[in-house]
Amino acid sequence: MNLRFTEEQEMMRKMVRDFAEKEIAPFVERMEKGEFPREVLRKMGELGLMGIPVPEKYGGAEMDFVSYIIAINEISRVSATVGVILSVHTSVGTNPILYFGSDEQKQRFLPKLASGEYLAAFCLTEAGSGSDAKSMKSRAVKKDDHYVINGSKMFITNGGEADVYIVFASTNPELGSKGISAFIVEKNSPGLVIGKDEHKMGLHGSRTVQLSFEDMRVPVENLLGQEGEGFKIAMANLDVGRIGIAAQALGIAEAALGAAVEYAKERQQFGKPIAAQQGIGFKLADMATNVEAARLLLYRASDLRAQGMKCGMEASIAKLFASKTAVETATEAIQVFGGYGYTEDYPVERYFRDAKVTEIYEGTSEIQRIVISKYL
Ligand code: CAA
Repeated sequence: MNLRFTEEQEMMRKMVRDFAEKEIAPFVERMEKGEFPREVLRKMGELGLMGIPVPEKYGGAEMDFVSYIIAINEISRVSATVGVILSVHTSVGTNPILYFGSDEQKQRFLPKLASGEYLAAFCLTEAGSGSDAKSMKSRAVKKDDHYVINGSKMFITNGGEADVYIVFASTNPELGSKGISAFIVEKNSPGLVIGKDEHKMGLHGSRTVQLSFEDMRVPVENLLGQEGEGFKIAMANLDVGRIGIAAQALGIAEAALGAAVEYAKERQQFGKPIAAQQGIGFKLADMATNVEAARLLLYRASDLRAQGMKCGMEASIAKLFASKTAVETATEAIQVFGGYGYTEDYPVERYFRDAKVTEIYEGTSEIQRIVISKYL
């Protein structure tokens, strides 16, 4: 097992780190005030970051999966907001079309998604169906050359900003999960209504909205895969999506550890830097150990995926551990900063607020344990 990045992956890491520090960091304050980072995404599109796994023939960068994960990891060290926008756009927004779309759908949507001209969203969750995703109530009924979709969705990342929505609705409720179908819905579809903008604890620059479908008309050619294949499409893409969220969580944990180490070396109490006080030194050591373990689990799952091997269990293990590490490391970083850590003058309170949701979205930690235990 190779535990080093290839030369190409290392170049990707350096390029993205540089971009994040120069182009994303100056935008963080505006995102914290709720501004969506359109300008940042445009520049990411120019660099090929909005279509990392998309083949060159569709205008993508056609890079390996590990490089994609490196990009989310590096971006999230600076901004978990931009990290989740990229992860949702790619893992669960673009990939369903890449892996399950018809040639015509790929040609129509992938070049625009890969260039960043289009942003994508993934619409699975509903008010009454979060973890129990297959109990969704949205319904799609075929009528001549289109489907009529009615229902609503909740907590849709990139919602309201996206141009393309991957929407799941049941075409045959009697069949349960096998009656769920997936649709590519364009933002100007009649009947697509953007609802409440959620005010979240963290990720302030990322938009999270409710959506409703009021006799929304979707042309039959926008059915993704076959009727009844939707749940499988959702689950298969979430397997990969969860590695992306693990990368986001690791980025937050790395940032929190880095900030805590720097501060502990500077801050003097009892006549020496607090890093030299064992209570703080041991804390930093535990944080670093967890971060390193999360990193190995993340890149192990990514490597399996890059080799085209099964990685569902490893993806869930990586997400479970990396998200727990993000929350714990950010919490401990605030403790190292003491009173200063509780203020908005330092970034650790943002890391803490951004970290929490990594234990919730793309499958809660409890759902990851269900997935892992099913594999066992
Ligand atoms: N790949 C392919 N197919 C899969 C699959 C996978 N990983 N997992 C399950 N399936 C298939 C099963 O094989 C089964 O088909 P068969 O009957 O033919 O075998 C079918 O799907 C139903 O499977 P289960 O009976 O196992 O389904 P379940 O109801 O017990 O649920 C679950 C499984 C893992 C709990 C699933 O419901 C789940 O993942 N829930 C969490 C939902 C989630 O992650 N939501 C995230 C929303 S997106 C988001 O958060 C984005 C964002 O904003 C950042």
